[in-house]
Amino acid sequence: MQHYDRNYILLGLCWVIVGMIFGIWLGSTNQMNYANSHAHIGLLGFVASVLFGLLHWAYPALGKSRLATPQFVIYQLGIVILIVGKIYSDQGAVILPILIPGSLITVAGAALMLVMFAKHGRKAA
Ligand code: HEM
Repeated sequence: MQHYDRNYILLGLCWVIVGMIFGIWLGSTNQMNYANSHAHIGLLGFVASVLFGLLHWAYPALGKSRLATPQFVIYQLGIVILIVGKIYSDQGAVILPILIPGSLITVAGAALMLVMFAKHGRKAA
């Protein structure tokens, strides 16, 4: 895969639209029990994805890491699973077989970005 910066930012902007529509729905129907899922769509989906995209833009060497594609896929997969788990738990049904893998895959995705940045996050001299 190439253009990790653009792909991350595009996905982040998709997440913000999803999160906003979800926010309008939960606010207008007064279902505040879903605020937690909404917050995770906004923060893990929109904010973190755009920040990861900006890291790729600011440090192009990150995109040359062989971890770049797995990091992208693992992080996005993790947050989808985690958000599904959050929606269930906001309904009062805590489903650990969804929440636990979702959380662990998400943190693995973030940890891979940490490893990539530690190894490749330097400006060319
Ligand atoms: C059209 C845009 C949005 C609408 C209509 C909206 C609506 C709401 C509503 C109705 C609540 C619940 C408030 C309450 O519990 O009293 C809420 C909470 C929250 N929203 Fe949004 N929101 C929007 C965008 C965003 C975005 C873009 C983010 C993050 C980047 C965000 C993050 C949060 C957070 C962190 C909370 C608190 C959650 C909690 O208390 O558990 N929202 N929003």
